[in-house]
Amino acid sequence: MRTRIGIAVLGLGWMGQAHSRSALRIPSLFPDRGVDPVLVVCADTEADRRERATSDFGFQRAVSDWREAVASPDVDAVWVTAPNMLHVPMIEAACAAGKAVFSEKPIGGKPEQTVQAYRAAQAAGVRTGVGYNYLWAPLVLHAKELIDSGELGEITHYRGRFLSMYGSDELGLLTWRFMLDQAGYGVTSDILSHSVSLAQFLVGGIDEVVGMKNTTITHRPIPTGAAGHYGRGAPEDPKGVVENEDFASMLCRFASGATGTFETSRTTVGPESQNAFEVYGTKGALAWNFERVNELEYYRVGGDVNTGYTTIFGGDRFPFHGAFVPGQANAIGFEDLVAIEDYSFLESLASGARYSPGFREAVDVVSVQQALIESWASRRWEPVRDLAVDES
Ligand SMILES: NC(=O)c1ccc[n+]([C@@H]2O[C@H](COP(=O)([O-])OP(=O)(O)OC[C@H]3O[C@@H](n4cnc5c(N)ncnc54)[C@H](O)[C@@H]3O)[C@@H](O)[C@H]2O)c1
Repeated sequence: MRTRIGIAVLGLGWMGQAHSRSALRIPSLFPDRGVDPVLVVCADTEADRRERATSDFGFQRAVSDWREAVASPDVDAVWVTAPNMLHVPMIEAACAAGKAVFSEKPIGGKPEQTVQAYRAAQAAGVRTGVGYNYLWAPLVLHAKELIDSGELGEITHYRGRFLSMYGSDELGLLTWRFMLDQAGYGVTSDILSHSVSLAQFLVGGIDEVVGMKNTTITHRPIPTGAAGHYGRGAPEDPKGVVENEDFASMLCRFASGATGTFETSRTTVGPESQNAFEVYGTKGALAWNFERVNELEYYRVGGDVNTGYTTIFGGDRFPFHGAFVPGQANAIGFEDLVAIEDYSFLESLASGARYSPGFREAVDVVSVQQALIESWASRRWEPVRDLAVDES
């Protein structure tokens, strides 16, 4: 017996399309599943996206008002895939309607908004998931197994970085990601959040941080039409101010006593989507980089010291990989990680098992972000407070 789960997708941009394709692929990828996802309704303000929703993705209907989609009685779970500042109202409405919610990260654009969403879900008692999709990479799951089983010994140091070029073109349009009222913070909300979620997943809680930020492209062409993620203006176009940070770095101390460093940028030139970590223990080390998602580098103390790192290729011996392709070193990619997270979330809805990362884990991420923001102002180390704990 499979559970039918009616889905609403709010915003059919990059991630709305990725999650919708997951719902379409899950039946063929996971024949032993306990769920049958059904694309019921898509909400988007753009008419061409609504047209694609029904004609290309097979949604039963498409609407311009997301509130109508959330309220639909044939919807069981809502995917929030609109720009950051729409997350909280969408989540609050879904919670009020008693629907399960999967929200793209970072959940709102500011730490207090993530907390607001978490509280709404807690009060309503609805199931939650958050789109930290990189945690689901089969070789990241394998890295966690190696760390948890003690193969690396005691973890002494962690390096996390997410260096992307998505904002490196100074003629890249001033889209929602660069605006305070639509994105909230810049790279700390957008991609440092991925790095911190990976670090917390692999090494555990972070106790204190100190960091810095910078904005390297201060003005960008103002969009005139329906601007997408990759829109580009002309040198003579009128420009507006970039309102949030392009770069952030951070030193941290984990609760375990390990040290950590983080770097994140959307304007560096060179690394294109370098969401990467290195984790160092007393008996070994691991290195992973999303640009080479199917490779995990593993160094072991005790063998021949001249051996150096060994490359472990992805393959069907690692979690979930075999759903996509059999054998070893046959690659999987970005949207496959989204399919794994969506499948896992849907399965948790059917089975009642707890899903992680949910909104609780999203609050863990923004608790670190909040301490970083405080350190920008104080120029000192700041303790990480659990923002889920109401101190009033
Ligand atoms: N997990 C990841 O790896 C990842 C990657 C990219 C983006 N994201 C997150 O996904 C979210 C969306 O980002 P994106 O890159 O897909 O954005 P996008 O700009 O590509 O798409 C946003 C969509 O929302 C629609 N929209 C805007 N206002 C709306 C409204 N009022 N009602 C309904 N639809 C509306 C837009 O028309 C567009 O189709 C963001 O929160 C972002 O942080 C996550």
